[in-house]
Amino acid sequence: MAKHQTRVCQRDSCRLRFPVPEDSELGERCPHCEGPTTLDDAPYPTFEARGDDEVTGPPLEVFLDNVRSLRNVGAVFRTADGAGVRHVYLGGFTPTPDHPKMAKTSLGAEASVNWSRHVNGLEEIERLADNGARLWVLEGGPSAVPLTSCLRDRGSEPIILVLGHEVSGVDPRIMGHCERTVRLPMRGIKGSLNVSVAFGVAAYFLRFG
Ligand SMILES: C[S@@+](CC[C@H](N)C(=O)[O-])C[C@H]1O[C@@H](n2cnc3c(N)ncnc32)[C@H](O)[C@@H]1O
Repeated sequence: MAKHQTRVCQRDSCRLRFPVPEDSELGERCPHCEGPTTLDDAPYPTFEARGDDEVTGPPLEVFLDNVRSLRNVGAVFRTADGAGVRHVYLGGFTPTPDHPKMAKTSLGAEASVNWSRHVNGLEEIERLADNGARLWVLEGGPSAVPLTSCLRDRGSEPIILVLGHEVSGVDPRIMGHCERTVRLPMRGIKGSLNVSVAFGVAAYFLRFG
């Protein structure tokens, strides 16, 4: 990843501070007002791959039931890589990493996470349930319990976390095969989070909480 440095607009009416890659001519003019800029050479920190953070929860897999947006699926792959998720099941019309635009949001993380495609998600869920998989669906609704109160029940056996479509949520027949429905607390005016954000919160709780 290119190192970055900060440039500062010299116009008193603007004073925009913004990062640009080192050795780039970008930023010599302010992108906001086109005024001249100067360099602040304090170095930005960079994150290197670590792989040694302590995992407190069980192995985790994720099942995406008809998640339609490439950006959301790409973001799920990036988070799955970070959380050490073992496998991503792509159900229904969920786009796969074969799509050329996926790498824009996954930033290559799809190469490090196993995945499989299942055009009929319900049939794959039935197969997983018949094989004894622990299926936890992340969804709202009256039977949902807060994920935060489930951490002590995580155990050590793998969990498959099921998430659903951006508007309709998880197929009710799929929910019927899941041993529990867990929800993330919501305190605002909206009933749900973006699906990739919800996955990130839940995955990090389950793996490292
Ligand atoms: C935007 S939500 C779907 C809409 C939702 N079913 C509704 O009634 O508005 C997309 C997916 O994100 C997950 N999700 C988002 N916010 C959540 C929350 N607070 N608790 C549990 N799951 C959530 C679920 O898997 C859900 O299927």
